[in-house]
Amino acid sequence: MEPILPESAPCFMEDVILSRFKEIEISGAGIGLRSQHYQQILDNKPNVHWFEALSENYFGEGGLPLYHLEKVREHYPITLHGVGMSLGSATSLNTNYLAKLKRLVDRFEPAYVSDHLAWVSVNGKYLHDLLPLPYTEEALTIVAEHVIQVQDFLGRTLLIENPASYLSFNNSEMTEWEFIGELSKKTDCHLLIDVNNIHVSAINHGFSAIEYIDAIPSERVREIHLAGYEDHDTYLFDTHGHRVHPPVWDLYEAALERFGPVPTLIEWDTDIPEFSVLMEEAAHSDALLEKILS
Ligand SMILES: [Fe+2]
Repeated sequence: MEPILPESAPCFMEDVILSRFKEIEISGAGIGLRSQHYQQILDNKPNVHWFEALSENYFGEGGLPLYHLEKVREHYPITLHGVGMSLGSATSLNTNYLAKLKRLVDRFEPAYVSDHLAWVSVNGKYLHDLLPLPYTEEALTIVAEHVIQVQDFLGRTLLIENPASYLSFNNSEMTEWEFIGELSKKTDCHLLIDVNNIHVSAINHGFSAIEYIDAIPSERVREIHLAGYEDHDTYLFDTHGHRVHPPVWDLYEAALERFGPVPTLIEWDTDIPEFSVLMEEAAHSDALLEKILS
């Protein structure tokens, strides 16, 4: 059934899509925008620095998701975070996907546009998972070409996020942090460092999370993600369904020492809690950000 929009719902004509918002620098802790919290956010205008919207949720021509994003954007800066760009696919990027993303970017003027160092599709088939890459020179060339293509198309610098992973490839020629460093050099992209992902992968693969943080080119880091994982005894599973765990808060403090007071997102994607829980997590992040500034 088609959603019935309120009278004041925006139309989606070309002239409405043109620049309506000034681009805004963000700081402090942000919260992932989820449909369960739309009404509460719009009714109460909570004291949140910014929200991160999942790009693909707003690819439609109209309807309630876009209506709510429009309303949220009237009061808050946003970032756009994607899972479907598939920068690591050996096949061509999906130009239809990129056209939809560009329309969203032009309309909402997010502070940042980000996606993952991963692949999710092959020959037009989507796998709904962020899959890892072998860290080889060949893969680096492919990902770099894709990042440059996207940046040229959007007219924006992309933020690339490090993945959480559960397997690695015998034929990798460099570490993940070396791969990310080389990618940022080749493309001038910026980085979204997911501290939870580093912890999860460090435990799963047995590398040093601190060594990873220390190797990241700090001048390129524009955003940090924090989330909760599940401990499955033999491995950690990145579910985004829990509060941030104590070792990740510790690693976050080490990351802030190195990168400075980088805007930080509280991510929560499964078993979405009351908004107040997200506010508590964001307040903890804000306190640590302020500690770095003092
Ligand atoms: Fe993340």
